[in-house]
Amino acid sequence: MNNTALKQVWDLPVRLCHWSMAILVPVLWWTAENHEMTYHRYAGFTLLGVLVFRIYWGFFGTHTARFAQFIQSPARVMRYASVVLQGGAPPVFGHNPLGGYSVLLLLGLLLTQVGLGLFAIDVDGFDGGPFADYIAYDAARLMAELHEVCFWLVVAAVALHLLAIIAHRLKGHNLVPAMIHGKAPADHDIPVYPYLQTRFAIGVILAGMLVWAVISASPY
Ligand code: HEM
Ligand code: HEM
Repeated sequence: MNNTALKQVWDLPVRLCHWSMAILVPVLWWTAENHEMTYHRYAGFTLLGVLVFRIYWGFFGTHTARFAQFIQSPARVMRYASVVLQGGAPPVFGHNPLGGYSVLLLLGLLLTQVGLGLFAIDVDGFDGGPFADYIAYDAARLMAELHEVCFWLVVAAVALHLLAIIAHRLKGHNLVPAMIHGKAPADHDIPVYPYLQTRFAIGVILAGMLVWAVISASPY
């Protein structure tokens, strides 16, 4: 099929994960700044679940959600980057070769941020992540300091992400609506994967179990 038609580019789980992340990061910042640590932890556990599910979905989700589809060879990334440097930003169905690596960066930084938070403790030694009591106070404080440093790396990566989206907008490609309603023009057929609802349910259960195990370790 060669005519251009609207096809599903981002499935519902990808969009739900995306907008959950976009809401949870500011909530995590706000709750930390206002010492609402109970809500900070709840938001952090929720983000952990979202990240675990998104990683699972990167192997078992639909075509554009899969890491194998959007993590491309360095040669393709370089070719795409040189086109971008020459002033072009050709629209791609799914993540473009540069965007694929920025997805890895964002997910990796958020996962690191959650991981550090799990071991971090506040300066009084009273309020911390579920695993903070399993390590020495000084080590937990170091985790808290790294947690702060990593937060600013998250802020930088999100700023870069938003700048890239603005740059595409200036080139005439508005990527945001597709992340809302899920559809974008395609001139080729989109692979269909079977048992998506079952895969989705398994992912939710696995992510839920992992978060439950982490929360169960929490003394707070
Ligand atoms: C803390 C805030 C945010 C984070 C952590 C974040 C993270 C991400 C991630 C991980 C992806 C990859 C989606 C996937 O494959 O799962 C993505 C894609 C995307 N995000 Fe965000 N995002 C944030 C805020 C925003 C905002 C505010 C907008 C729009 C105003 C936005 C628009 C988009 C769009 C359009 C894409 C798809 C890009 C493409 O076509 O390749 N994001 N974002
Ligand atoms: C389950 C996950 C998380 C836990 C258990 C956790 C735990 C903590 C703890 C105990 C502190 C206090 C550290 C101190 O007082 O020095 C803290 C601070 C903070 N957290 Fe988290 N956190 C988690 C996830 C996140 C995430 C995902 C973000 C942002 C994306 C974040 C952003 C912050 C910020 C901005 C601070 C304040 C840093 C500072 O100025 O000292 N946290 N967190």
